[in-house]
Amino acid sequence: MIRARITGTGSYVPEKVLTNLDIEKFLDTSDEWIRTRTGINERHIAADGENTSDLATRAAERAMEMAGVSAADIDLIVVGTITGDYPWPATACIVQSNLGAINAGAFDVSAACSGFLYALSCAVDRVEAGRSKKALVIGAEALSRIVNWEDRNTCILFGDAAGAVVLEACEGEHGVLSTHLHADGTHLELLYQPGFGTRMQPSEQALKDRNYFLHMQGNEVFKVAVRSMTDVANIALKANNMSVEDVDLFIPHQANIRILNATAKKIGFRDDQVYINVERFGNTSGATIPLAMDEANRAGRIKEGDILLLDAFGGGFTWASAIVRW
Ligand code: ACO
Repeated sequence: MIRARITGTGSYVPEKVLTNLDIEKFLDTSDEWIRTRTGINERHIAADGENTSDLATRAAERAMEMAGVSAADIDLIVVGTITGDYPWPATACIVQSNLGAINAGAFDVSAACSGFLYALSCAVDRVEAGRSKKALVIGAEALSRIVNWEDRNTCILFGDAAGAVVLEACEGEHGVLSTHLHADGTHLELLYQPGFGTRMQPSEQALKDRNYFLHMQGNEVFKVAVRSMTDVANIALKANNMSVEDVDLFIPHQANIRILNATAKKIGFRDDQVYINVERFGNTSGATIPLAMDEANRAGRIKEGDILLLDAFGGGFTWASAIVRW
């Protein structure tokens, strides 16, 4: 059987760091409140003129360098993002052009914080079907551009980043063993960006109502996130005939520390099985999982043959999991 194996990982975060103490200076909040409620100490913010495609391109270059593949070798680029450079065309096309990946098809996937796992699933299916040999899968976000910096309920949570993997068609036991995708659109208004798609056009009133920004009912999202991430992790384990003991590293979407801890505990993981970096980057939506995977990989935390469980939940709602044998 042909499997999609991860042969390179890469990530990129913008230089500018915004700490909780920085936020205290312009918002009615405190470092203590943010740390205890979210586990976040700081996040990275894209510079003026630095766009999602720029973050994605840097992460992709690093993943390709590790894999030892050139831009011309890549035949597919899938970007999971909800903060693309434009409503359309796809940010993946801008990355394709930046890289000079002249032999690649390119498209975006919109699944919010589950975007990377949805993108991964699309690419894995094409690789396993024999239609792609070397694919780039990227999660990239510039969320700082769509959060309302006057809304203390939301802006403190998010950051900007990109992570990428190179997937190669390989024979054998290593690679992505499964992907599971789920969605429920009935609760979309608990976490969404009301404007400006076809449903709400730009107008003076819409701008005044701040409808360009991300809206969220945090309490409600919290409960559904823990339940859904637990369910989809258990579905993945069952599908692979595995238990929590078989997993070397659990990499959940880094939303906030309370969601991570509650989810890991409900599934039954020990602390040392769970990868957490939310304190340094905040919630970077579609970028959190590939960013964490790249950090763990470069730190030597992932060894050949290790089993990884990736698990995400996001706006839509969408939720997804993947099991990887490294
Ligand atoms: N600083 C100080 N006080 C604040 C802040 C802030 N930044 N934000 C809210 N508060 C206040 C509220 O106004 C409220 O005050 P009140 O009691 O006087 O009305 C109080 O703190 C409690 O507010 P809650 O919303 O109940 O606080 P909660 O403990 O639920 O924490 C949070 C809020 C952190 C947003 C939490 O609900 C959460 O993490 N939800 C998940 C949301 C999330 O992660 N979304 C990301 C996208 S989805 C995903 O990635 C899974």
